[in-house]
Amino acid sequence: MEICPGAFHFRHYLSIERQRATADRCRALVDGAVPAYVPIVRGGGKMHVRMLCLGRHWNASTYQYECTRADFDGLPAPPLPPEFRALAREIADSAGMSIEPDLCILNYYDADGRMGLHQDKDEGPESIAAGIPVVSVSIGDTARFLFGGLKRRDPIEAIPLESGDAFVFGGPARLHYHGVSRITPCTAPPELALSGRFNLTFRQSDEACRALS
Ligand code: SIN
Ligand code: MN
Repeated sequence: MEICPGAFHFRHYLSIERQRATADRCRALVDGAVPAYVPIVRGGGKMHVRMLCLGRHWNASTYQYECTRADFDGLPAPPLPPEFRALAREIADSAGMSIEPDLCILNYYDADGRMGLHQDKDEGPESIAAGIPVVSVSIGDTARFLFGGLKRRDPIEAIPLESGDAFVFGGPARLHYHGVSRITPCTAPPELALSGRFNLTFRQSDEACRALS
């Protein structure tokens, strides 16, 4: 379903089998050798998610991408798994867009997880000007996702993102404000044996644009 030009919500895009495989992969990653952590942003506040960046690391104090986690433990960002990359391409294609993702931000939301209204604008001027989308996949508990316009004060639509849903925003919607106001606990499909929510957002940074040209 098209939310506005450039923004698409695909309800239940992933079958329960694909959700389970993705949930298992996410669980292993966030508790792996390079674990997810709670970033502290520029103003000094703690984020309300556990974050793990794959492919490239988003530094929460500089708002820049880098290879190692300079704002936390200095470890290298784990690679982006090829099957994740393929999934993001497939979803973008369903929205009539294309992406060669070089990074994914994997966030875990517990029952109190949330994310303030923001724009995704650190991927670089070329990627953003080209309207290359952000591709989002949700697994687990339902989130109340907020999707607004190009200005913070533009009207905001609240969209429930359920387990298996995909959301794509690119083209004219690439810089729309968005956030997560709350999670509804215990709404994940029981087959996942998951409390909380994983969200994966795939992006293509200007580094990837340059590597392709
Ligand atoms: C984000 O904006 O990075 C996360 C969105 C979501 O969790 O659905
Ligand atoms: Mn975002």
